[in-house]
Formats: sequence, structure tokens, C-alpha cells
Amino acid sequence: IHNVIFESSNKASNVVAHEIAALIRKKQTQGLPCVLGLATGSSPIKVYEELVRMHKEEGLSFSNVVTFNLDEYYPMDKNNIQSYYYFMHVHLFNHVDILSENIHIPNGKIPVDELYQFCIDYEMKIKSYGGLDFQLLGIGRTGHIGFNEPGSHLNSATRSITLDYITRADAASSFLSLDNVPRKAITMGIGTIKSAKRIVLLAWGNNKAQIIKQAIEGKITSNIPATYLQEHDNTTFVLDYEASTELT
Ligand code: F6R
Repeated sequence: IHNVIFESSNKASNVVAHEIAALIRKKQTQGLPCVLGLATGSSPIKVYEELVRMHKEEGLSFSNVVTFNLDEYYPMDKNNIQSYYYFMHVHLFNHVDILSENIHIPNGKIPVDELYQFCIDYEMKIKSYGGLDFQLLGIGRTGHIGFNEPGSHLNSATRSITLDYITRADAASSFLSLDNVPRKAITMGIGTIKSAKRIVLLAWGNNKAQIIKQAIEGKITSNIPATYLQEHDNTTFVLDYEASTELT
């Protein structure tokens, strides 16, 4: 893992957005799709904002971009404003020229008896595009990446998972109360994430400082799934100053 520390999350987000834009353009000149794994939550918002700006002001086209989102609550209707489907459309997809058929987000309304096959198909779909060129991540206070909570296996694939209490508590404010937060989610696995050719994890603010220290400096353990990234050879943790303060 490399880590880079910026004075502000704004500055950091711009640098990450520019890396993604450069990759999209490079793939365009090669006549290839650019396959992006995307995250939701507060961490990537400014990255998406800058990508939208580059689309509007600098002609950055998303016509060759294929996206796979990390996760979705389960059950969750895509029209619900708390859905990750809704989040992605509001923050990115509605404002750029991505083809709707190139957008993939786990289906929070898939019937239980079709869930297993849905997850297998999600993996196959990623592989059919040659894998993820770039995976954007946040990190939860449990050390989750995607919704791979503590206990997740190194080789796990897309599947349903039970959310940890801390994860649900952190989401409670956007759901108005803890009781409204879904108990489950569909998430790409650690294996799915680790197969990406490039991984960038974003963490901002004081409340991430402790888990960032454990993720970067701690020993690799399923108790802190983000530690699995230590074994990936092209991962960068992009931090603001506050998130870096516990690092030795
Ligand atoms: C979201 C996701 C989660 C978040 C993490 C941090 O798609 O996969 O792992 O990245 O919970 O959330 P924020 O950015 O809101 O602190």
C-alpha cells in the first residue's frame, strides 16, 4: 500500500478524479471500454463532482465507461432515496453521457431465491469485460471495504452479507433511525475487489484515523478486511490530514 496525504479532501478528490479521467481517455484512444468499480457514501462525492465538471467543461466523455458498483442495501428499492442506485444517479450518472446499459449496481429488489444466481452473474459480467481497470473504495469504521464486514474471506465473491452494528449505526442518520437501516446488503467480495488492476481507497476526517492506522499498519486479518489490501500491489490510500493522524 502506498499512502498519500493531502491537506484537504477537496484537493485529494481532484487528483483522484484526474487519474480516473486520464484512464478513461487512454482507453478511448485504444478503442477499449474503461471498467470502473465505484463506491457510494460521503467519501467519493467530490470525486464524482469533479468528473461531472470535466464532462461539462472539458468534454470528458463517458461513452466507453462501464461501471460496477460495490454494493447495495438489501432489500432496497432503487427508487428509494436511500438506495445506492439513487445516489449514483444523483451524483454522477444523470450528469454524464454514460450509456445506461453500461451501468451495473446490485439489485436490491432481487427475490431471495434468485439472489445467489444474481451474484454469480454479477461476477461473470465483470469478468466478461476483462475485469475492473480501477476500483474506487471508501472504508467503514469496522474496516469494511464494500460491505465486506469483519470475518469476510480473502477470496470472497459477490454475495449477500449481514451488516455490522457500527455500520448500521453510522447509516442511521440518513435513514432517520437505526430501525430503518436495512440489516443486509449485496456486496462485491474481497476477491472481486482485489482482482482490480488498480485500487484507490479514500478516507477523510478524524473518525477514520484509527481504522486507517489498523488497515495500513496492522497485520493482515479478516477482522479488518481492509488489511487484505496490503497484499494488492497497486493500491493507494488517499487521505486527508485528519485521517492520517494516527499513522506512525
Ligand atoms: C459504499 C461502500 C462503503 C463505504 C464506507 C465508507 O459503497 O462500499 O464501504 O465506502 O462505509 O462510507 P463513507 O464514505 O460514507 O464514510
